[in-house]
Amino acid sequence: MRFDVLTLFPEIFSGFVSQSLLKLAIQGGLVDVRLHNIRDWAEGKHQHVDDRPFGGGPGMVLMPKPVVECVEAVQAAAETPGRLIMLTPQGKRLTQPKVEELAQQPRLLLLCGRYEGFDERIKQILQPEELSIGDYVLNGGETAAMVVIDSVIRLIPGVLGDEQSSIDDSFSTGNRLLEHEQYTRPREFRGLTVPDVLLSGNHSEIARWRNEQSRKRTQQRRADLLEPPTTE
Ligand code: ADE
Repeated sequence: MRFDVLTLFPEIFSGFVSQSLLKLAIQGGLVDVRLHNIRDWAEGKHQHVDDRPFGGGPGMVLMPKPVVECVEAVQAAAETPGRLIMLTPQGKRLTQPKVEELAQQPRLLLLCGRYEGFDERIKQILQPEELSIGDYVLNGGETAAMVVIDSVIRLIPGVLGDEQSSIDDSFSTGNRLLEHEQYTRPREFRGLTVPDVLLSGNHSEIARWRNEQSRKRTQQRRADLLEPPTTE
């Protein structure tokens, strides 16, 4: 799967793409991440990408030309056009079903904003799908794009060592329960012990216990997940 990230700050991604699962997925040819600097499509000596909002107000707005031309050039650079996603707090909320849908795509373009937002004509011309990772405002879409990549790649076959671990995840389709608690060695730490059932070797008992713990946790912490899902 290919991700094209369009940003004013490609350097933000350097640590992200060179560590852990994503690094291995890239090395294994399962994932390809291409970074594009929107500023490369800006004009003039100063390569302005933003300007003050018409009508006044604080902050700066991303100008249409560099953003639109950057997207068009990136789309043209590969045979399969990517699904264009704009990261913005005004977008539809990213949920696990949406992540599952995105993981089916061969290519995603992730357009990251900065400042006070995008000139509206960018949206009129490019018709992106607008996504928000939550009801809070980030300084830019870059960290949101990392959230999209991180959540999507876990679902690409071969990226996780154990396929089952993404199927069991909280929020995945067919599972709206929080994960049960986990323990590893040692059996005792600072007087706290591992529940006996986990040491019993009885797999059906262990599965039953874990399921019960998941239900209890969900009831206590996120009772809303036990309601039938709403189609947002
Ligand atoms: N850019 C700024 N805030 C954001 C958010 N909550 N989600 C996605 N992109 C953003």
